[in-house]
Amino acid sequence: MVGVYRIGVFSDVHGNAEALEAVLEDGRRRGVDEWLCAGDLVNHGPRPSEAVDMAVRSASVVVMGNRDREVGNDVDEAAMFVPAGRDPAVEREALRWTKTQLSERQNALLRGLPSIATEVRLGVRFAVFHSTPWSDEEYWETGVEANRRRLRDECPADVYCFGHTHRPSVMWDDGRVFLNAGSCGRPRDGDPRPCYAVVSLSRSHGGCPGSVAALKFVRVRYDLESVARDILEKGLPRGLAEALRVGA
Ligand SMILES: [Fe+2]
Repeated sequence: MVGVYRIGVFSDVHGNAEALEAVLEDGRRRGVDEWLCAGDLVNHGPRPSEAVDMAVRSASVVVMGNRDREVGNDVDEAAMFVPAGRDPAVEREALRWTKTQLSERQNALLRGLPSIATEVRLGVRFAVFHSTPWSDEEYWETGVEANRRRLRDECPADVYCFGHTHRPSVMWDDGRVFLNAGSCGRPRDGDPRPCYAVVSLSRSHGGCPGSVAALKFVRVRYDLESVARDILEKGLPRGLAEALRVGA
């Protein structure tokens, strides 16, 4: 049968359950058949517990992000990863607070997430990871040739799905797709609306394998101000609310 199978890809929810709700609802309206998640369910946002449960309930694949690893393994805040240009005090306070919000069941779930997942849908091979299969902390954009080459050599797939930078981007290279899904809960590309991607596969027919027919990014409107208020009411750093408002 000829038709389209739609895979929604979201990443970097960061405890923003409202944003994830809005993304999932938008995806339902657009006919998304299945969700993949590239990690970082927690840290920064005010509803990490709900974000974890909603993500694992909704997505068939969820991989581990650096914040999931740190929270799930109760990594000391002094040892946490702080990207260049970020305020360590804000990052540490957010980590400390997030750890108080999750149950032991959820911590176990986070530390049990795989660092990479591979799936085949309609003959199209997907590889999902947070940043790269060899690091959940490396910042790279799809234009970095060395990483694309290493992925091709070490992790054969047709569609590579990841996040971590919070900036959506896509590159087609030698028939393969390198897709950074941006951020659902904490965009940093100047657009504060939650972001996700839809990969549309043409269904296999007549013995032929399926293929990527279309790929697009979707931005979703939601009640951002209620999340910003929630951040402040829960005593999280003010800077987190301000950054959320401007997509920084
Ligand atoms: Fe992240």
